Amino acid sequence: MTTSTGASRTVWLDGVFLPAAEARVSVDDRGFLFGDGAYEVVRVVRGAMFEAERHLRRLDRTLQGIGIGYGRAMELREVAERLLDENRLREDEATVYVQVTRGAASPRTHHFPPAGTRPTAYASAAPFVPFDALRARGAAVVTVPDIRWARCDLKTVNLLPNTLAKQRAVEAGAAEAVFVRDGIVTEGASSNVWGVVRGVLRTHPMTPAILAGVTREVVLEVARERGLPVEEVPLFLEEVRGLEECFLCSTTLDVMPVVSVDGEPVRGGSPGPVARLLQEGLRERMDTGVLAAPR
Ligand SMILES: Cc1ncc(COP(=O)(O)O)c(C=O)c1O
Repeated sequence: MTTSTGASRTVWLDGVFLPAAEARVSVDDRGFLFGDGAYEVVRVVRGAMFEAERHLRRLDRTLQGIGIGYGRAMELREVAERLLDENRLREDEATVYVQVTRGAASPRTHHFPPAGTRPTAYASAAPFVPFDALRARGAAVVTVPDIRWARCDLKTVNLLPNTLAKQRAVEAGAAEAVFVRDGIVTEGASSNVWGVVRGVLRTHPMTPAILAGVTREVVLEVARERGLPVEEVPLFLEEVRGLEECFLCSTTLDVMPVVSVDGEPVRGGSPGPVARLLQEGLRERMDTGVLAAPR
């Protein structure tokens, strides 16, 4: 029997569904050797994937952006659907993870492997519990210098600056690390950042300095639907402590109020009404997706 958490968790690797314990990736794989690959995480609400198409389109964009010739990103949706069934993840919440690397080739070369090297494609699904308790009290964040490369719009598995930043957050007892470059708040280690400035919602414009978060896009839509004024304009770090509200958004955090930055309270340390409204709107979209999903 397969379960969502046990050793017999089913994953998908290069076209084959198999127990996770039996899945093997080559030591020559360029994902392992160079972080040479792309990935996505998709939220699943009561069995229905939320915005799967936007995530898979972004995967396709990243793959094209780094020159990995894998023309089947959109087909991963069916793979994910089967993983949700095989792992009995249709009742509660879950996440689907997909990754495509440039494949395995020997000898190891920095430059691309020989033409015809097959990309390695992997997908898995796991149960997920939303961070509702944290949302109720609000999250602490720390700021870190944004030492990443100039193509943060590509969602690659080359995540070392992000993992180091996240570790700094954990060590400081914070939920997220927020990158700052030239005094500008770019984004979180795995989230986008928002502020409310004189009643106007503000988030970093879509440039190569940030990832085009799927949740960011949905939150922008929800804000506009609800008539909230929004501007895609950078936030300066020096503005952050005086923000009327600050919050993060991502596939797993949803809309997450920020109540302190580097130990200094924001909004007196309590979550605000704009974040709550947007969380409600996002959640409504997710629940609508559940109703509309083909079963
Ligand atoms: C660097 C970065 N920015 C933003 C996000 C949020 O993107 P999404 O809303 O698509 O999860 C993520 C998600 O992992 C991320 O890694």
